[in-house]
Amino acid sequence: MRTDSGQVFRLEDYKPSDYLITHTDLLFRLDPTATLVTAKLSVKRRDGVAANAPVVLDGDGLVLESLSINGMPVSDDRYKATPDSLEISGLPQEASFELEIVTRISPVTNKALMGLYQSSGNYCTQCEAEGFRRITYFLDRPDNLSTFTVRIEAKKSEAPVLLSNGNPVEQGSLDSEWHYAVWHDPFPKPSYLFALVAGDLGSIHDTFTTSSGREVALGIYVEHGKEPLATYAMDALKRSMRWDEERFGCEYDLSVFNIVAVSDFNMGAMENKGLNVFNDKYVLADPETATDADYANIEAIIAHEYFHNWTGNRITCRDWFQLCLKEGLTVYRDHEFSADQRSRPVKRIAEVRNLRALQFPEDQGPLAHPVRPRRYKEINNFYTSTVYEKGSEVVRMIHTILGAEQFRAGMDLYFQRHDGQAVTIEDFIACFQEASGRALTHFALWYHQAGTPRVNVTSSYEADTGDFVLNVEQSVPPTPAESMKKPLHIPLAYGLLGPNGEDMEVGSVEGATVADGVIHLTEGSQTVRFRGIGSRPVLSLNRGFSSPIVLKQDLTKEDRLFLARHDSDLYNRWEAINALCVEALIAASTSGSYDFDPALVQCLVEMASNESLEPAYRALALSLPTEADIAREIGSNVNPDAVLAARSALRLAIGSAARDAFGRIYDAQADRQPFSPDAASAGKRSLRNILLDYLVAADGSPELASRQFEAADNMTDRAAALSVLAHQYPQHEATQKALSAFEERFCDNALVMDKWFIIQATIPGAATLDLVRGLTAHPAFSLTNPNRVRSLVGTFASGNQTGFHRADGAGYRFLADTVIALDKHNPQVAARLSTAFRSWRSMEAGRQEKARKALASINEVPNLSRDVKDIVERTLG
Ligand code: TRP
Ligand code: ZN
Repeated sequence: MRTDSGQVFRLEDYKPSDYLITHTDLLFRLDPTATLVTAKLSVKRRDGVAANAPVVLDGDGLVLESLSINGMPVSDDRYKATPDSLEISGLPQEASFELEIVTRISPVTNKALMGLYQSSGNYCTQCEAEGFRRITYFLDRPDNLSTFTVRIEAKKSEAPVLLSNGNPVEQGSLDSEWHYAVWHDPFPKPSYLFALVAGDLGSIHDTFTTSSGREVALGIYVEHGKEPLATYAMDALKRSMRWDEERFGCEYDLSVFNIVAVSDFNMGAMENKGLNVFNDKYVLADPETATDADYANIEAIIAHEYFHNWTGNRITCRDWFQLCLKEGLTVYRDHEFSADQRSRPVKRIAEVRNLRALQFPEDQGPLAHPVRPRRYKEINNFYTSTVYEKGSEVVRMIHTILGAEQFRAGMDLYFQRHDGQAVTIEDFIACFQEASGRALTHFALWYHQAGTPRVNVTSSYEADTGDFVLNVEQSVPPTPAESMKKPLHIPLAYGLLGPNGEDMEVGSVEGATVADGVIHLTEGSQTVRFRGIGSRPVLSLNRGFSSPIVLKQDLTKEDRLFLARHDSDLYNRWEAINALCVEALIAASTSGSYDFDPALVQCLVEMASNESLEPAYRALALSLPTEADIAREIGSNVNPDAVLAARSALRLAIGSAARDAFGRIYDAQADRQPFSPDAASAGKRSLRNILLDYLVAADGSPELASRQFEAADNMTDRAAALSVLAHQYPQHEATQKALSAFEERFCDNALVMDKWFIIQATIPGAATLDLVRGLTAHPAFSLTNPNRVRSLVGTFASGNQTGFHRADGAGYRFLADTVIALDKHNPQVAARLSTAFRSWRSMEAGRQEKARKALASINEVPNLSRDVKDIVERTLG
């Protein structure tokens, strides 16, 4: 394991390597404890580099078995091999030579799940970001592009299926016990995109014909018996391939594309060239075991990894500081795909809720960093919501600024100019500037400056002149190591609503560039004057959440209700009702008095009943801000118990006022058709299930939820009912009965048991900690499986405000103990888990002190991984 050496990597220190590995020939002789890896590397000295410059290769925990150059063993005095590096000097005078390196590794004992490991007895690899160096010594950096030929030898009985990147070349038998397969990937790629999978797997197959008429063989590999569960993923893959051709002109380039589902996986999935490896949670689905949210995630992640083929693989990152070059852009692309496949406004609202729940707290806390960071200690800790989600928002803003046509021209130029290269954010931005002829110099600050901008807007209508005037101020709060902030170029899509609720015509505007329905803020303080507006308008600002900012406006309650009823921008209709709910919940939780405005309740009931809105949208309107949302808006000195009480009171007030109306809609949404995971059917279920939460609250009885639980013919309705039962009636007999029935039915299905863990881990209140601690001893739980850890412990820590932030600090202690235990074998997941501490300073004083102590207790453990040490040190500040 890599412990902390104090080393910091800096963007400005980037230097090309002296040597390049242009072709990589790998031979794997697979064995659980002693796999032999023979790497034949075609090494090339760069022009201008002195012939006596040594080759320095990366390693991580490696043992060198043998080393030769051009077929001749290298004498001991010419190389130095340590577990993390191999340095060779006295190299041939010629600029090119062949290096042969043999290492021996043990996949079965690799519990970090980086490099070559075994999951359920199958061999698989994970090399991003720096896992390849756990397999062999290499220039394990993304700017070394190499073609690969891979030969895998394995026991037929142990691994009948042998897969790697690229196209299959040959396969055959070695003797009665062993066989082999050879794969060749003609597209030069960095080592982080290497993959190998070998095991006894079932599969489904299909084909896809690309726009130019080439046929691609598609395969999805899963555990035997799970083949039928992969059909939705296959369908999503084909839709992704077609969409990328149509929307971005990106055609697939190999003759095969394979996906493998594994059950032990540190993240969601990995885009290895031609051989994507997935967390099985994002592949396997059927109505019995998967919820609508699971189907939507599968579709989005299949698309995301597939889209990386062009944004990430054909064009990759020069160094890891450029991670958002591939991730932000690819998230933007998968968001657009889902918006096209489903409902655009519903998708956008979900994106913004997610951004606010995950990225805003990051940007406002001790772990804040720019979309393109300038320094890191451990790159694994920069696969963050800021790099991914804010990175996507930045690309979306480029689209907003340039418009669809020029945006596409910029993407076309990017693909054409940089195909086969490892590039930077500057290269990416230059393509949009050149294709559009517009300067993005100021805009680029979004990549470099951390923190969520605050924009404050006050407005006035001058009846005598007909001028509508906005005073706009923007500022960015200080973030770690960055106290001085500059104003950003913030594109705000907007509209002015007239008294009839329709958008008014806008004539001349002064004080800012305003074009195509977008106000371009560029200064710290600006006055924007709309001339000739016939009557006082209601301003709809930041439509579609065009910029990822915190917007404060001087809208009245009446203005917000008006927007919620009339805005032509569906995103902002939701934003208006959401803002009203947030305001009401903050007031209630700080005052302890729960008399909610009947006009708010009335507006929510209207939106729920409005049949001109799609059910999924109505469900979102009814989804109250979460406890974490409210805590974040309160900002400091948060008392989570008061927040929970206020939220439950508002739910009860709405449910009671609308009991009959909600009951009717609940019944009307019942689906008599056989289950279908399509967006429209899922939307109906989501509306019905949010209504169930209100109805059960209003009834003061779990009855309706029990009934739904028992009648459910799909996991969406079953899990929703179980969640309402457990969260509203944790102690009730009906809940205990349902939990046991669920457990008994699904105890052999780990992915479904994750839902059972999640539902219990999120039961509000102090008592849940003991429940969660008890569940760590459940036979379905395991500290070595990341999905189990995330479901039970991760969800408790980041999704249970009153449980994790228990006043006595026991929740913090529990998390600290789990992080310490996990760090011994899986630092990456341990570090991710420890980020749940990041908002500790926003709690009231007593809790703060307890959280600080728990963090300090992790920090004191000897030999902490670099991953955990980095997060804990930054969080303590
Ligand atoms: N590149 C992957 C994606 O976002 C994610 C990833 C990065 C990853 N590092 C990983 C996945 C480590 C698993 C393990 O598409
Ligand atoms: Zn990605």
